[in-house]
Amino acid sequence: MENYNYNNVWKEGIFDGKVCLITGGSGTICRQQAAALMKLGCSVSIIGRDQKQVDEVVKLLGKIGNKNAKVIGLGGCDVRSIDSMVSVAGKTVEKLGKIDYVICGAAGNFMSDFNHMSANAFKTVVDIDLLGSFNTVKACYPQLIKNKGSVIFVSATLHYYGVPFQSHVGAAKAGIDALSNALAVEFGPIGVRCNCIAPGPIGGTEGFNKLVPNKENFESKIPLQRVGRTSDIANATVFLFSDAAEWITGTVMIVDGGFWHMGNFN
Ligand code: HXC
Repeated sequence: MENYNYNNVWKEGIFDGKVCLITGGSGTICRQQAAALMKLGCSVSIIGRDQKQVDEVVKLLGKIGNKNAKVIGLGGCDVRSIDSMVSVAGKTVEKLGKIDYVICGAAGNFMSDFNHMSANAFKTVVDIDLLGSFNTVKACYPQLIKNKGSVIFVSATLHYYGVPFQSHVGAAKAGIDALSNALAVEFGPIGVRCNCIAPGPIGGTEGFNKLVPNKENFESKIPLQRVGRTSDIANATVFLFSDAAEWITGTVMIVDGGFWHMGNFN
């Protein structure tokens, strides 16, 4: 049997000295990912468009109480602009010293049928989700190479089948999966891992509220019989960034209680 010490991975402070940049960091899911990383010693840079929302989340995360983990907030950043992303990546390195981990979490979403969706509406979501993910990795690339870092893209499951009124999001998320796969192969030899997390219906999120207007008895439609929690996504995040996942790249980790196997959101 391999002489493997499990305590090297599953212990307090596994991310001491690490730094994670998170786009969409003030969103409901991403703030929980940030909190979990901070609990385990990782400093975080919260990137968002809305300065006020970023400030509020930075204040909340400041109460985590791990002295090894700092938090900074950089609002006013639009992931659709490469200049904007280069600027926040630079400020993160200036204030926190480096970037080891990146979470591409910024996303746009609204319900719209094809007939009423303008070309600009479609482009807007693809630009935020897909181009924004590209720009984020592009801006952090020198740091990722230097520190043999790791990237998590926040994807979805709705492009595995057809979800009405979500053609823009489905197309963008399918692109994100493809981007992650290609980068996993390109970056593998330089020691940088790329993976996706595909959340299912996570309670309390904007996505859940838009896609599941009728919540009555919704749990019974999920094989594991409960709605997802943001901590479910945080746990997957910790695993994928940890050394426990050191041989995992180019995967999509679906965290959905088995929901997508049920077919659709009806
Ligand atoms: C139709 C809409 C629309 C709507 C905007 N547009 N909202 N079209 N229905 N409800 C159109 C506009 O008319 C415009 O097209 C174009 O989109 C750009 O709109 P702007 O408001 O100028 O863009 P911007 O200010 O950049 O905002 C983009 C946004 C963003 C996408 C609307 O504000 C946003 O994403 N808000 C919600 C955030 C959110 O829900 N995040 C959670 C994501 S959850 P025209 O032609 O008029 O110029 C998620 C998970 C999915 O992604 C999977 C779940 C399982």
